[in-house]
Amino acid sequence: RAKADVTYLRSLLGEYPDFPQPGIVFLDIFPIFRSPFALETLFTHLVHHITTVTLPRNRLSSIDVVVGLDARGFLLGPPLALRLHAAFVPVRKKGKLPGECVKVEYEKEYGTDMFEMQAHSIAPGQSVIVIDDLIATGGSAKAAGELVGLQGSKVLEYLFVVGLPFLKGHEKLDAPAYWMVEGD
Ligand code: ADE
Repeated sequence: RAKADVTYLRSLLGEYPDFPQPGIVFLDIFPIFRSPFALETLFTHLVHHITTVTLPRNRLSSIDVVVGLDARGFLLGPPLALRLHAAFVPVRKKGKLPGECVKVEYEKEYGTDMFEMQAHSIAPGQSVIVIDDLIATGGSAKAAGELVGLQGSKVLEYLFVVGLPFLKGHEKLDAPAYWMVEGD
């Protein structure tokens, strides 16, 4: 079933050459969201991966916190957290979250930006996964891992709908990365 899921979801991805800039083929996950069956397939596949791979590999029985990255990780994280009976914690671009925040600078295609997480939103030692729609150069996922580290915890795994492994973003990360569908 897993292989059929992957083929099916891959077939739905939108591809937009030269968006948002020349040379980039933008991979769009929203066609998956427009299909109730595809959306069910996506979340069921992710939960199956977590319960059969992520948790046993770490000798754990549950995930405590799903961390979702600004902005499409906000669409994936809460439904996944609901299915896992876990908490959801957002990582946002600077200046959006109220109260005391932990902050980390990260590298983008051009220059740097700042990611923030509300302080004390993860307890030390909680089991944490990070989710986003796509891993490219891995800068934002790496920064999310550093924010989780500043809360006294550690990321078990980084999950993505789409991976672009030729960009080697996963090699920057301090835990395994999993992507359902491969772009090229
Ligand atoms: N973010 C970085 N690279 C991307 C791509 N090719 N498609 C969609 N989102 C991206």
